[in-house]
Amino acid sequence: MFLQVNDLKVEFSTEDGVLTAVDGLSFSLERGRTLAVVGESGSGKTATILAIMGLHDANTRISGSIHLDGQQIVGARASTLRRLRGERVAMIFQDPLTAMHPYHRIGAQITEAYRTHHKSSAGQAANRALELLDRVGLADPRRCFNSYPHELSGGMRQRAMIAMALVCSPDLLIADEPTTALDVTIQAQILELLSDLQKEFNSATILVTHDLGVVAELADDVVVLYGGKAAETGNVRDIFYRTGHPYTHGLLASIPRLDQPRYRLDAIPGSPPSLTDMPSGCRFNPRCLFASTVTDDLCNSKAPPLKAIAPGHFVSCHLDSERQKIADRLAAQPEHGEHS
Ligand SMILES: Nc1ncnc2c1ncn2[C@@H]1O[C@H](COP(=O)(O)OP(=O)(O)OP(=O)(O)O)[C@@H](O)[C@H]1O
Ligand SMILES: [Mg+2]
Repeated sequence: MFLQVNDLKVEFSTEDGVLTAVDGLSFSLERGRTLAVVGESGSGKTATILAIMGLHDANTRISGSIHLDGQQIVGARASTLRRLRGERVAMIFQDPLTAMHPYHRIGAQITEAYRTHHKSSAGQAANRALELLDRVGLADPRRCFNSYPHELSGGMRQRAMIAMALVCSPDLLIADEPTTALDVTIQAQILELLSDLQKEFNSATILVTHDLGVVAELADDVVVLYGGKAAETGNVRDIFYRTGHPYTHGLLASIPRLDQPRYRLDAIPGSPPSLTDMPSGCRFNPRCLFASTVTDDLCNSKAPPLKAIAPGHFVSCHLDSERQKIADRLAAQPEHGEHS
């Protein structure tokens, strides 16, 4: 397995005490595949990927394990993490201006990113930068090379940042809401570009998004996060067609329709849980339409384990065992037995 995350925990020390933003998350990702991480605001998406990038600060406690091609990232030395970030892992941010230096020309930034990790002459690095600016679909790579970030449109800046992310041919590309700041036509173009580039580079991709339309289009595998835990994980067909978790159902029920405005995940009634006040039992139970149908007040009292409901398809919900209980009860009744 190329990326293997096991029992990841991310805790922040704050004035309110220790807040657990990611709580026992496990998933894996093969090369050449795209994993979508979806969930409402505050569910722990960014905290998870910052852990993979080794970018959390000293006030953050990370436990569990993250193996990238066999290399342990949790607890690795700063120099190891820096090298991984330059050579193997790259990130695309929602806002390119956070990743780019405002006062340096784009070409200089890309060539510097390249030369930090590769022995090459300034001329070779510049050629590599121009090649990538061309590859990401910028009409005039040379003009872009010589521009400052603010001189480009939002879509062009996003392409330039993708070029910068790809300059060292990363094996793992992480995109955190890469298109939410762009208008819809440009979004579609950037997503198509990401999909093409992934095939070309055979990289593993983690895509953080609020948008299930994007998931349907680009993802192979999906992790649905709720309150820092996986509510459901599986391949994209399992998630869309054999949905196991009521939260995922809720997300899908609000998928965009042509006759309605584009939706965001907050279409589910109620609000996401607060880190300082997590509901007992299943974290989703206060918003769940099915919690009252499960017996023994289980949803309120016991956290459901993440269980396989089919090979590779995991769901954390008591409904499944409830269904099983009902089925067992029916099977035990004599009239059922007699007719079978
Ligand atoms: N440095 C920090 N110190 C304290 N709490 C933090 C810190 N960073 C994040 N959090 C909290 O951790 C939780 C998860 O945050 P995270 O940024 O991972 O959410 P997210 O899923 O990326 O949300 P969004 O969709 O809004 O980007 C949130 O409740 C957030 O307030
Ligand atoms: Mg985030």
